[in-house]
Amino acid sequence: MSELERKQDRAPVPADWTYAPAPESTDIVSLQDRYGLFVGGEWVEPASGEYFTTISPRDEEPLAGVAQAGREDVDRAVGAARDAFQNGWGKASAAERAKYLFRIARILQERSREFAVLESLNGGKPIKESRDVDLPLAAAHFFYYAGWADKLEYAFPNRTPKPIGVAGQIIPWNFPLLMLAWKVAPALAAGNTVVLKPAETTPLTALLFCDVLRQAELPAGVVNILTGDGRTGAEIVKHPGTDKIAFTGSTEVGKAIQRELAGTGKKLTLELGGKAANIIFDDAALDQAVEGIVNGIYFNQGHVCCAGSRLFVQESIYEQTIDKLKRRLTTLRVGDPLDKNTDVGAINSSMQLEKIAELVESGKEEGAEIYQPPCRLPEKGYWFVPTVFTNVAQSYRIAQEEIFGPVLSVLTFRTPDEAVEKANNTPYGLSAGVWTEKGSRILAMAQRLRAGVVWANTFNRFDPTSPFGGYKESGFGREGGLHGLEPYLKFDGETEEWGG
Ligand code: NAI
Ligand code: MG
Repeated sequence: MSELERKQDRAPVPADWTYAPAPESTDIVSLQDRYGLFVGGEWVEPASGEYFTTISPRDEEPLAGVAQAGREDVDRAVGAARDAFQNGWGKASAAERAKYLFRIARILQERSREFAVLESLNGGKPIKESRDVDLPLAAAHFFYYAGWADKLEYAFPNRTPKPIGVAGQIIPWNFPLLMLAWKVAPALAAGNTVVLKPAETTPLTALLFCDVLRQAELPAGVVNILTGDGRTGAEIVKHPGTDKIAFTGSTEVGKAIQRELAGTGKKLTLELGGKAANIIFDDAALDQAVEGIVNGIYFNQGHVCCAGSRLFVQESIYEQTIDKLKRRLTTLRVGDPLDKNTDVGAINSSMQLEKIAELVESGKEEGAEIYQPPCRLPEKGYWFVPTVFTNVAQSYRIAQEEIFGPVLSVLTFRTPDEAVEKANNTPYGLSAGVWTEKGSRILAMAQRLRAGVVWANTFNRFDPTSPFGGYKESGFGREGGLHGLEPYLKFDGETEEWGG
């Protein structure tokens, strides 16, 4: 039985995980030197004549000039959206709306490689994620909502659903095209028109999407895309012609938007930050749980609102879990987002890198123990080594604040009650994860966790049919699923639900 005797208690780990480079070619993407604003189906110059440069976070190289939209441009875009709503789109047959959504979905699939490369180039996320997650999901959202467009009366029986009008949509930089899909697909399915602003660091896939709209022959003005920074977003929110605002981003800006809209009667949905608990019970399949922990916090460099940034491990399996986790971290490949072998790409911007570094510093100062695997980072660009903090107290900033980077804070618990209490001890409530073999425990935990989404024995799993959204400071309103249509509809005889 020499075979058995030689069995080791740990799997052998190669000393070196270096892979030969496997870069995805960027030839498929052709960029213009400069982009205008997409208003009424045409490219127009910003009234101010002001442009800014968008770069690639992997090497800080400039990619293109992008317009800074101001008040006049917002006014023009809202006007175009209003015209399109009144003169056709709002009255178009539902099957007609579905036709365009199906077209957009198919074109996104056809051009998915081009979009995936551009997404990774402009935002820094690994190509395997933009290729296998962002793009398929973006297309799936259009397919899914295309299917609802002509079934709204069945979806909301006896409630006479009607479109609201012009939706102002402001999205962040962590899932640029996917967040666009989450916002545009339900808005159009419900019969609204749109003015959308991508984030200032990642405008390029939204601009390429304008090309898809033209290819799909979507009527002019139904979707208008304005680039610019927070000032542009604030103008969209304030404009008296936007009937509904959908925002995804920081809690701070979400609060400002809610204050601005109070008393206006505009509908509002907010999808804000998070500090999700990922809870590992001692009966969990540990190797799978470790994969779930890694996917929960290092997916997309941790730039994920529902990231599992607080890990709660049951005390009896603490040492074992941390050992396995550290070992797994040494195998993560950090580097060029366009390399197909990369697990963790570039941090989206220098600003975000500073924020992560500052919070990590605070963790060390407050007394947590830091672990970072050995890792050679590229010389140019924005990078952060995947990080684990142990010995974390609940009061530490790294256990309270959203870091939005590849940084995990580990805490422990003894009983399910303690796990619930600690997990809910946060101003946020977007998502949570539970790892256990017991179905009854999953259900009991899901009942008690104050989070919009609770994943069981998995993490960061998305599907267009499933509603997503938060409690408390993570915002309100749901995106995805049937629930995701409701914020874009008004119903006979109902008073406004939000914002009024
Ligand atoms: P942010 O909230 O400032 O930006 C998100 C979007 O809102 C961007 O399109 C931005 O141009 C726009 N915006 C900024 N100020 C605005 C205003 N006054 N009115 C209307 N729109 C405005 O987020 P930022 O500064 O990029 O990141 C800061 C932190 O926010 C991150 O470190 C992270 O913790 C959190 N965040 C959360 C996101 C989520 O998915 N929930 C996404 C992005 C950031
Ligand atoms: Mg900001």
